[in-house]
Amino acid sequence: MLKIIEHPLIQHKISMIRDKETGHKDFRQLVSEIATILCYEATLDDKVKEIEIETPIITCKGKVLAKDYAVVPILRAGLGMEEGVLRLLPMAAVGHIGLYRDPKTLMPVEYYTKLPSNIEERQTFVLDPMLATGGSASEAINIIKAKGARNIKFLCVVSCPEGVEFLEKNHPDVPIYTAVHDSKLNEKGYIVPGLGDAGDRLFGTQ
Ligand code: PRP
Ligand code: URA
Repeated sequence: MLKIIEHPLIQHKISMIRDKETGHKDFRQLVSEIATILCYEATLDDKVKEIEIETPIITCKGKVLAKDYAVVPILRAGLGMEEGVLRLLPMAAVGHIGLYRDPKTLMPVEYYTKLPSNIEERQTFVLDPMLATGGSASEAINIIKAKGARNIKFLCVVSCPEGVEFLEKNHPDVPIYTAVHDSKLNEKGYIVPGLGDAGDRLFGTQ
């Protein structure tokens, strides 16, 4: 269920966001662009339904996406991917889940949840640039599933084996789309080589 998107544009943009000299303005733009490409890939196998369209010339058949969509960024860093995904899915409803990692235990702590109505009927994309221990992604998906959602895909920018293993164990039904799959976590729970703290780099905080 792990799909690594090895597109040349992605490889180029990943190298730019890894660079510690890249400031938050460029970092934000690049994360958003990567999110758009991930969204393109993540919708490739989505279902479409036939409709009838009246063009200015004639009536013909066409196809539109079969499901309504929900996009759920995990606060804070997932916000950096929101606009890039909505560029391709502007009709999606947007939910937010606020989680932070306790710095000592690395366990996710929930502080906010607001989800779209009828989430059980929607194709839901959960967004977070970093899949590190997998605790945040897994907890966010627990919260969404508790509201009835079943069709869920997880989109991230950087993943690592520990996070993928944890998420696949807890949510084997959820495909993971990642721009790059890094080698490991360090002792502080940061992805190596990674890009540092995604939230701080997006928002210029420390
Ligand atoms: C970061 C990141 C993920 C989480 C990933 O958030 O945006 O949500 O860490 O780590 P995990 O896979 O080990 O759970 P952080 O806790 O730093 O909060 P922030 O987005 O508010 O900065
Ligand atoms: N969260 C981040 O922002 N970066 C990491 O490397 C791990 C978790």
